Amino acid sequence: MKIGYGQFKPVFGEVAHNLDRVSRALAKVRCDLMVLPELFASGYQFVSKSEVRDLSEPVPDGQTTARLCELARARRMHIVAGLPERDGNRCYNSAVVVGPDGVLGCYRKTHLFFEETKFFSPGDSGFRVWDIGAARIGVMVCFDWFYPESARTLALKGADIICHPSNLVLPYCPDSMPTRCLENRVFSITANRIGSEARGGKNRLTYIGNSEIVGPRGKILKRAPEKREQVAVVTIDPTEARDKSLNRYNDLLRDRRPDCYRR
Ligand code: ACM
Repeated sequence: MKIGYGQFKPVFGEVAHNLDRVSRALAKVRCDLMVLPELFASGYQFVSKSEVRDLSEPVPDGQTTARLCELARARRMHIVAGLPERDGNRCYNSAVVVGPDGVLGCYRKTHLFFEETKFFSPGDSGFRVWDIGAARIGVMVCFDWFYPESARTLALKGADIICHPSNLVLPYCPDSMPTRCLENRVFSITANRIGSEARGGKNRLTYIGNSEIVGPRGKILKRAPEKREQVAVVTIDPTEARDKSLNRYNDLLRDRRPDCYRR
């Protein structure tokens, strides 16, 4: 199975332009699963609720989901990508999962970071896993990684690969995902953006690049540069994530002691 990430530098608010650039960058890419960053076509640093509302799209009926579906159909791949989702009066920081036959579903970010808490509603989808044939994929978005419960929940729900659209600004995630993968024996694909935004007089946010694919034994299989766009694909065997046995006596998930974890 071939899995990859696209690391890009979107222009805030220029959704059609950003979609065109990503479509061109993926036009010749061959893979089964491609992960794109959080809010990959809208940009990240919103300055008002009305701006969020204007750039948010219904799923599955918005232009971003439509373009992703076109791309997935043309390239015969599955894509996981972040977008601002509007549902009635609420906006969510979401990620859609699409494949050659259309939309599989949508995940709404559970743990909102920093000013996202002013602009988005906390996700109500729960952590979800989809079977795409070659593997079972789970989704979490950016800051969700900081809560080990996110990756654990996806592993308990059967994810082989954690797809992780991100707009990372703190430096810790790239060196932490190997631990998330090791402790759950799963693959992960973190797709981050590059560049910076300083909109409406706000402090500049600099995105750290370093998108990454990690294997179930904690090995970094591919890492992107900090400041350059990159599309990368690696070949994996997703069934490596299904054997949770550590040794003759220990099985990663079976040996959990949930009764000891209660407060
Ligand atoms: C983040 O959750 N975008 C840091």
